[in-house]
Amino acid sequence: MKILVLGSGAREHALVKGLIRTGTSSENIVCAPGNAGIFQDAQCVALDPNNPGEVTEFSKANRIDLVVIGPEAPLVAGVSDALRAAGIAVFGPSSAAAALEGSKAFAKEIMAAADVPTGLARKCFNLEEVSGALDEFGSPFVVKADGLAAGKGVIVTSDKTAALEHAENFIQQGMGILVEEFLAGEEVSLFFLSDGTTVMPLAPAQDFKRAFDNDEGPNTGGMGAYSPLPWLPHNFVEEVTNRVALPTIRQMASMGNPFVGLLYCGLIVTERGIKVIEFNARFGDPETQVVLRRLLTPLSSLLHNAATGQLASSPEPGFIDEVAITVVLASEGYPVSAAPTRKITGLAEAESDQHIEIAHAATKLDGQDLVATGGRVLSVVSLAKNFSKARKHAYEAMSKISLEGSHYRTDIAKKVSDD
Ligand code: AMP
Ligand code: GLY
Repeated sequence: MKILVLGSGAREHALVKGLIRTGTSSENIVCAPGNAGIFQDAQCVALDPNNPGEVTEFSKANRIDLVVIGPEAPLVAGVSDALRAAGIAVFGPSSAAAALEGSKAFAKEIMAAADVPTGLARKCFNLEEVSGALDEFGSPFVVKADGLAAGKGVIVTSDKTAALEHAENFIQQGMGILVEEFLAGEEVSLFFLSDGTTVMPLAPAQDFKRAFDNDEGPNTGGMGAYSPLPWLPHNFVEEVTNRVALPTIRQMASMGNPFVGLLYCGLIVTERGIKVIEFNARFGDPETQVVLRRLLTPLSSLLHNAATGQLASSPEPGFIDEVAITVVLASEGYPVSAAPTRKITGLAEAESDQHIEIAHAATKLDGQDLVATGGRVLSVVSLAKNFSKARKHAYEAMSKISLEGSHYRTDIAKKVSDD
């Protein structure tokens, strides 16, 4: 099966590595546009992943059997719609179904209609309404932009002035605002493959969203993750399947918007039960790095079966009985400011440990040099018998990598480790 993966982040590198590890030959994988790390594992092509016509033409000309869409932008741009119209199998929802991620208000409507447990929310269009909703729910305040905001749309704060300023910024850009009740508890990311009518869960993971240790600093795209989660109740996955994923998929189908692709359920385990905080319409980054590192079942079949309505007859995904953690290396200033392009060294030494894989994100080759182009640069992924060992290997590998000004969290999976 010839597979085209769209995207250029560590998630896409983890997808490529996951495909190869579970049986796909690297000659049968093309990535657009990819990055310096993906280039070592598969063919990379300079194709605009957000251009539906270009992606469709390329897929036809190169006899691609399956297109796997990594990031959200191609979904919003209608790339999956164009591919489906051309009869090409695609793992990724239509732009209409991707609204489950793109519009938080739409997601709330779907959850209300399907009776999916989630926190209370008020949709607001001006600052007066925002202020009233903030007073109604009280501190800590949760304010979200109702639209794509490149990961910067959400603020959780006990400072009402900061909450109002955040709302004002997005209102000025013409966006609606969602004010939500604050939900306290552990966060879980659980991914479901969906073929529009059937869902299949992968393994739960936890993401570390804040920039610095002890959950301090601004929200980021994710600074690390681990999987599995030994503290979850035994029926957790079953409960999320039956109370969240299936009702959501059925609701989407009944509205004529079947969701085919990856339903990412962002959950909080509260004292009053499991609640959804968000849906995404794609694999999460960096959770994918740990979830797929443990996958044993051929990833190409799972994704192809989801893309072609055959999940019901698909084998269930199996996972190795070891644990995975990932630590993200971010460039100076991330997530607030952009760093200049800088040389990065030590990756070969870091990867010489058999427990370690490195998923590249913002890397490129500059002559002989590998350079980091800013933001989240790479994910160190570690697989071991237990979390103490996985942490030890991950941080030893990280200490071998040099990038001026860079930073990473040192507390990934610490609470589930003996050290
Ligand atoms: P979101 O983009 O909706 O996932 O929000 C980003 C992060 O903000 C989440 O991962 C949570 O850590 C936090 N967050 C969002 N909504 C809530 C909420 N209602 N209660 C508590 N924390 C939240
Ligand atoms: N790690 C969070 C996300 O992918 O949205």
